[in-house]
Amino acid sequence: MSKDSPKKLPKTFFVKNYGCQMNVYDGERMAEQFTDQGMEAVDDKSQADLVVLNTCHIREKAAEKVYSEIGRIGKNRRKDKSEQPMIAVAGCVAQAEGAEISKRSPSVDIVVGPQAYHNLPEMVAQASGGKRAVDLDLPGLDKFDALPKQRKSGPTAFLTVQEGCDKFCTYCVVPYTRGAEISRSWSALIDEAKRLVDGGAKEITLLGQNVNAWNGEDNKGNMQGLDGLIRALNRIDGLHRIRYMTSHPNDMTDGLINAHGDVEKLMPYLHLPVQAGSDRILKAMNRSHSRDSYLRILDRVRAVRPDIAFSGDFIVGFPGESDADFEDTMSLVAEVKYAAAYSFKYSPRPGTPAAVMDDQISPSVMALRLERLQALLGKHQLEFNEEAVGRTCDVLLERKGKFDGQLIGKTPWLQSAHIDVPGLEIGDMVRVELNEAGYSSVTGKVLMKEAA
Ligand code: SAH
Ligand code: SF4
Ligand code: F3S
Repeated sequence: MSKDSPKKLPKTFFVKNYGCQMNVYDGERMAEQFTDQGMEAVDDKSQADLVVLNTCHIREKAAEKVYSEIGRIGKNRRKDKSEQPMIAVAGCVAQAEGAEISKRSPSVDIVVGPQAYHNLPEMVAQASGGKRAVDLDLPGLDKFDALPKQRKSGPTAFLTVQEGCDKFCTYCVVPYTRGAEISRSWSALIDEAKRLVDGGAKEITLLGQNVNAWNGEDNKGNMQGLDGLIRALNRIDGLHRIRYMTSHPNDMTDGLINAHGDVEKLMPYLHLPVQAGSDRILKAMNRSHSRDSYLRILDRVRAVRPDIAFSGDFIVGFPGESDADFEDTMSLVAEVKYAAAYSFKYSPRPGTPAAVMDDQISPSVMALRLERLQALLGKHQLEFNEEAVGRTCDVLLERKGKFDGQLIGKTPWLQSAHIDVPGLEIGDMVRVELNEAGYSSVTGKVLMKEAA
């Protein structure tokens, strides 16, 4: 494939992330490669010589956003052709739609899949020579070996421990865009976690499309699951908090459940998507867990960690979902009372079995169901935040708030906490008493400036 217009080698870049936290992690790793090459990150996309769109294919809307964004960048093009910004499409849309992207949007110079972005520096060189670069290999873990070792970090960091998915839920594109389940090695992860802590991280969130499917040999040659890895990370000095996401119910081992009871730095929060409350729909989704088996897992986690906060993902309007099936989802939600949740209208994805199932649900029915579900989830989220008022806990300050002097951090239960006290800095861990609650945040009164 060739393009006729060479472009200057980019000096500045901008990475725009869509989708899940794994894309955020990948986006950070792409940026590190560019800075290693002497390029400079810019905050304003229109000033960048290279724009990377790190895309998501999970729902139709997410995928369509990419094309409108490419169109917008196209409009801002500079007069001299060789001065035009280079456009790279990375992530899951790149993997799913491949070379079709450059056919639909000829201004795209680079198409790179989520397992191949360690080759970006070479691809940029190729594209600046006027040749379109495409790399959609799914080679497993090569990229991690090729990426820069040093990790700079804010107070909270993501660490991808596992990639891909073998579960093949009938609605989902992830097994096709991210490939099969693979775990990174124990030593690579302990090493990267230590580098992140040296680089400033106090909290690490372990990531994977099925993070709790992680397994590997420890440095003594014993097989370990995610709980073993978490216990090892718990021993790293300077690391204060550990989280993980996203988990699949079928990979919630006894070991991992028990870790919630006795690993000091593991935070009391579990994101465990259920998707639906009806066994008939769960079966059609190929979730391979039932409503009851899911609820039993939550009971067991609660037994070892009574203050655990649960969050979940939900899909309404899966093909064939009757009113009664939807009521099953509502009653499951009423039973669990999630602290937070993500809920979506079913979106048919090309190539997935559900997209060609009979009895697709109309958009208007889906809209009504989503509205009812979100009202209930929102009510529980507010109640969870209100029940936290009066508790004393640590907050790790992560970013500036809207108002002068205000900082925002997270409670152990992943609530956003607003703190208005002069003299505090991002990265401080403060002991607070929670004193007010809203839908999406709580506020805290600082009791001690240096907690834990
Ligand atoms: N691995 C995780 C999350 C995968 S994607 C898991 O197994 O749960 C994040 C969420 O997007 C899913 O949990 C699901 O709720 C939603 N999702 C995935 N495919 C979807 C589709 N085709 N339509 C609507 N929502 C979808
Ligand atoms: Fe998608 Fe299911 Fe895999 Fe989650 S477990 S990534 S929803 S196929
Ligand atoms: Fe989206 Fe890919 Fe993540 S499809 S949700 S960016 S794994």
